[in-house]
Amino acid sequence: MSAQFPVARPRRLRRTPALRRLTAETRLASADLILPMFVKEGITEPQPVASMPGVFQHTRDSLRKAAHEAAEAGVGGIILFGIPAVKDGTGSGADDPDGIVQLALRDLAADLGDAAVVMTDLCLDEYTDHGHCGILTDAGEIDNDATLERYASIAVAQAAAGAAVVGPSGMMDGQVGAIRGALDAAGHPDVAILAYSVKYASAYYGPFRDAAECAPQFGDRSTHQQDPANADESIREVLLDLDEGADMVMVKPAGAYLDIVRRVRDTVDVPVAAYQVSGEYAMIEAAAEKGWIDRERTIMESLVSIRRAGADMVLTYWATEAARMAS
Ligand code: PBG
Repeated sequence: MSAQFPVARPRRLRRTPALRRLTAETRLASADLILPMFVKEGITEPQPVASMPGVFQHTRDSLRKAAHEAAEAGVGGIILFGIPAVKDGTGSGADDPDGIVQLALRDLAADLGDAAVVMTDLCLDEYTDHGHCGILTDAGEIDNDATLERYASIAVAQAAAGAAVVGPSGMMDGQVGAIRGALDAAGHPDVAILAYSVKYASAYYGPFRDAAECAPQFGDRSTHQQDPANADESIREVLLDLDEGADMVMVKPAGAYLDIVRRVRDTVDVPVAAYQVSGEYAMIEAAAEKGWIDRERTIMESLVSIRRAGADMVLTYWATEAARMAS
């Protein structure tokens, strides 16, 4: 009896690095990567973020330097988070024309030109003394519609300072429509909106709260961010945001929500971003530091997986380093 040989041998195309490179279905390009950056008012030296090794709260100067390095590595964009020296109930630092993000935006818009897209996170939690993403009622609940007015004003301040794209992340109902209307009325019809449409109430944001100093002083974000148990709701959020004028949509976090990334990608015809958040970063850095996983390989695998799930772009704290490793 003759031996049975398999006709189909998928291993043929895996045999050499050149064959594997030729047949790869997903590629990670430096232009797909967006670097989130923190800039803090009133510091003279960059401050390391303990739970995110390699990430800093920047001074205006160190931000310019790091943004330049990111652009040189080929990243597609930078998204800015500001930490004001003084916080108050309404987050007045957020739309102050001389607030830290507006100052940093002017720096980067001038420095970077068209080398990378300069974007902003648009929220209140970094700016309020209570750490919530909106204005509070006397009863201590977030007032959705009063918050929309603040977001509209922040959007205009960020656009006036040079943001090409604003990223509303507060998960208030109607935020994209309010921002679009305000931008248009203020003469900024060309400023685009990257909507954090799908944003889960996630424990993976833990380290970010150190980086942006925005832990809520009481309560949590589960009255406005989504329940991790839900998927259909994400499609509803995305469709609402597109209806209100979003140019691009985001899913956040990325790694634990790859099914959602895929569903969104298959549903919409606008660019889809996914945010590999602080906890995803911290877990890999911590395990690598212990010598339990190969740091570079795990980083690149995590990023290519997010692309494979359907994200056109990935926000990641490794953007500069990964851009150097990518094509
Ligand atoms: C809100 C905002 C948060 C993150 C990005 N934008 C915090 C939150 O919603 O609680 C988290 C990002 C991360 O964990 O890396 N301004």
